[in-house]
Amino acid sequence: MDDRQRYDRATAELDPPFAILDMEALRANAESLVRRAGGKPIRVASKSVRSRPILERILAMDGFRGVMAFTLPEALWLVSHGFSDVLVAYPTADRAALARLAASERAAREITLMVDSAEHLDYIEAAVPANSPPLRLCLDLDAGYLAFGGRFRAGALRSPVREPVHAADLAADIAKRPGFRLVGLMAYEAQIAGVGDDPPGSAAFARVVRLMQARSARELILRRGRVVNAVRQVADLEFVNGGGTGSIERTVREKAVTECAAGSGFFHPRLFDFYRGFSGRPAALFALPVVRRPAPDVVTVLGGGYLASGAPGPSRLPQPYLPPGLRYSADEGAGEVQTPLLGQPAEDLRVGDRVWFRHAKAGELCERFAGLLLVEGDKVVEEVPTYRGEGKTFL
Ligand SMILES: Cc1ncc(COP(=O)(O)O)c(C=O)c1O
Repeated sequence: MDDRQRYDRATAELDPPFAILDMEALRANAESLVRRAGGKPIRVASKSVRSRPILERILAMDGFRGVMAFTLPEALWLVSHGFSDVLVAYPTADRAALARLAASERAAREITLMVDSAEHLDYIEAAVPANSPPLRLCLDLDAGYLAFGGRFRAGALRSPVREPVHAADLAADIAKRPGFRLVGLMAYEAQIAGVGDDPPGSAAFARVVRLMQARSARELILRRGRVVNAVRQVADLEFVNGGGTGSIERTVREKAVTECAAGSGFFHPRLFDFYRGFSGRPAALFALPVVRRPAPDVVTVLGGGYLASGAPGPSRLPQPYLPPGLRYSADEGAGEVQTPLLGQPAEDLRVGDRVWFRHAKAGELCERFAGLLLVEGDKVVEEVPTYRGEGKTFL
């Protein structure tokens, strides 16, 4: 039985739209991430999962330790449900959440906040009472790649802290303030971890990507090491975090890095098909029903416009996955309430049949569905809620 037959059979009694998680594929993907990490622990990026029961199951597997959360309210919620060691990977300006963090001994012990400036320190200090337990901080380092005297930049625009001296200065500032403990350092090389080195289309562009990534990795191995040394003069770091699904094996090779992060690799969405170093199995899919047939080789499915975040373009559209060979109409793309799909496979589809899609990214799928149907073989064995299904939208 092929995957389409399995998924159709497992969900035959259900009416789409719905989302499924192929548990065998999820486990295989998790094992592959652990293998690639070569013994260093992987912090699970919750933004790319967005389902509490699935995060729990992943963390129960060998090789994973701690959560990389995306907002402080999310981190507080996870800790209230028993999660521990939660790093909020992006700075927060949520004063109410900061006050809640400072009011809870356990939350203050389990949650680490991200900072990259004295402005962040001042902001947090102003939001929490003076006698609060010390808050755990992680320093975010710019891991982007600069060339041609800074005129070319690759990587996410995040932290202004780049050089050892800047990091050491900020670490010293933190050490002076009794309300804080600097426990971690994070440097996420988005230009390697999140950019496929085998992109479709132009071979010349692929060569440029690979060259940029090789140079960036060489630059980062030195700079990240120097920054960690400089910061360790001032603070006892518990962890140095780097990388993501696309860079694991490269990131963990650096001695200064104690752990890597990964999230997208569990669901293996469309954007992660374009890497030479690893492959994964599409684990999270959603089904949309065929609702009409405008022409012999066209079907229209309900909904579908679940675009992914990031720089806009065709790569952000969901992929019509099964049956293979369907494509969007150039005029309509993935629609708000209906999506026409063109191609020869449409000839065999009838009203009520389903088309299976993959999201371009991983966790954003869960903002569209309240639950994930867990598929083992050709059966749905359980349904678990997404964050949305638990009434939680943190962004
Ligand atoms: C700080 C940080 N680390 C790691 C990742 C990698 O996550 P993923 O494995 O889901 O690509 C991201 C993604 O944006 C990130 O922002």
